[in-house]
Amino acid sequence: MRTIIEPFRIKSVEPLRHTTREERELYLQDAGYNLFLIEARHILIDLLTDSGTSAMSIGQWSAIMRGDESYAGSESFFRLKRVVDELTGFRHMVPAHQGRAAERILFAVTCKAGDIVPSNTHFDTTRANVEFTGASAVDLPLPEAADTQARLDFKGNMDVPALEALIAREGASRIPLVMLTVTNNSGGGQPVSMANIAAVKDVCARHAIPLYLDACRFAENAWFIREREPGYSDWTPKQIAQKMFSLADGCTFSAKKDAFANIGGMLCSNDDRVFQRETDLLILTEGFPTYGGLAGRDLDAIAVGLEEILDPDYLRYRIVSTGYLGRHIADHGVPIVEPPGGHAIYIDAARMLPHIPRGQFPGHALAVELYRHAGIRGVEIGTLMFGDSARYELLRLAIPRRVYTQSHIDYVVEAILEVNQYKDRVRGFEIVEAPPFLRHFSARLRPV
Ligand code: F0G
Repeated sequence: MRTIIEPFRIKSVEPLRHTTREERELYLQDAGYNLFLIEARHILIDLLTDSGTSAMSIGQWSAIMRGDESYAGSESFFRLKRVVDELTGFRHMVPAHQGRAAERILFAVTCKAGDIVPSNTHFDTTRANVEFTGASAVDLPLPEAADTQARLDFKGNMDVPALEALIAREGASRIPLVMLTVTNNSGGGQPVSMANIAAVKDVCARHAIPLYLDACRFAENAWFIREREPGYSDWTPKQIAQKMFSLADGCTFSAKKDAFANIGGMLCSNDDRVFQRETDLLILTEGFPTYGGLAGRDLDAIAVGLEEILDPDYLRYRIVSTGYLGRHIADHGVPIVEPPGGHAIYIDAARMLPHIPRGQFPGHALAVELYRHAGIRGVEIGTLMFGDSARYELLRLAIPRRVYTQSHIDYVVEAILEVNQYKDRVRGFEIVEAPPFLRHFSARLRPV
């Protein structure tokens, strides 16, 4: 059969509530045209993030009832640990309340002022946690990836010659670790090839620098390897993921993505000494090492989610359905970051709305228009979010896992193509009031 269907049926539903265009205009004005400040009940289709927004399965809800809430030595922890051990092979694992908590602990233990942490592209929380220690976070994406229209199979790869040059210039002693984000979220949700992970590991090993994966979307990355990298088409996603982890010395992980959990994260490592110091810090700020700031039931939901996420039927559907949204808008003239990524479609707003200068936030203007027109919420990833260091002006439409059906996505396609018809009339914004830091969460704006 050519039709790829959602590999689940729906047992429990959440109603959606329609609003009128007039109501949405009022909500926008009340929120200072900031979609983070609009109440979620006034959103029809919420593509703000794929993080913590998954629909859990019957297996996960059943596991939740099994959760062992013992303060120390919880059974739930050992169930999770068995799954993680088999999947990753790392010697040590502690839970944390979400990905950034694992990052904070990792960088607090490994980095100091003057250090450098290279990555293919840091996610904003990893960048912020690196820089909070006084170290600098350096992105080394492929130069070809700067062209949003370039269709590379592994556009998320790290530029390995640039990594070697950085080590030669700055010295390995200033680089406590190298990170690879799989898939590369800030770079368009693009995958990293096994060959690239191996090449980065090779450089790291020569200089005795540990390699960590920011493994939030490891399963989506594994599927892309299976589909695109020669030699992997008859491997299971799990075997591919196991090999990815075997090339690394540790990982940070947000279970809010590729574990279908609504909360949770993990920090893994092969280094006994680093791990001891991480555990000490964990106890200070997250909790005892067998719960790490989570309830026992959350650990059980993650354990089940980590197995479900590697189901080939699920991953095929996931990647094909994200591509479905991307192709249907791109093939009708809406410029996206090509090719479609794993968890999200990124519209190149600078290209779509060339009449809006960067300083008037074209990605944000498009986000507001899509909400006003059809009640859909995406997020700007551009100058409003990153200020002058923004590399692109994008609108990200992230797709929650197992939540929306194809007709929801058809509605999104229709809305975007309609906005594209009158895009010349979409106006830019200026900031009325904003804090200096993380301004995209709370800025108030007005149309210019
Ligand atoms: N790393 C990557 C690549 C991420 O995408 C995220 C979160 C994190 C780390 C942090 O994990 O949220 O559990 O603390 N990304 C979400 C997003 C917020 O919308 O892309 P967290």
